[in-house]
Amino acid sequence: MPKVTIDGKTVEFESGKLPYQDHGKPESILDVCLNFGIHLEHACGGSCACTTCHVIVKNGDGNLSEAEDDELDRLDMAPGLTLHSRLGCQAVVTGDVEVEIPSWNRNYVSEGGGSINLGEAIPPPRNVVGAAKD
Ligand code: FES
Repeated sequence: MPKVTIDGKTVEFESGKLPYQDHGKPESILDVCLNFGIHLEHACGGSCACTTCHVIVKNGDGNLSEAEDDELDRLDMAPGLTLHSRLGCQAVVTGDVEVEIPSWNRNYVSEGGGSINLGEAIPPPRNVVGAAKD
């Protein structure tokens, strides 16, 4: 039974028994998140067409499916890319893994609910009280 730890929260499932949630590859990190109510952005529905499901693998790289060319090509566009970056919708879990979700992402669209933490990517609000002075 693989254990998946995502930002400190650990869930466990029996391989081949996880109900498919219709986004990404079956038993991918995204599929695991959707099954256990863990929010992971997935703006393209898990079709390897964005980078919002970008995760960084802290432990267990070898317990994920090999990254295919289309995942690697897409990852090249991910902000904050690391040697341990994967797309959550493409990385299928085969054993224990620990991943971290980056605090911001390139796309600002969410279909999974909630909102993306853009951190310092968004400038602070301007003072809108009163008109600009010449
Ligand atoms: S959800 Fe778009 S690439 Fe994974």
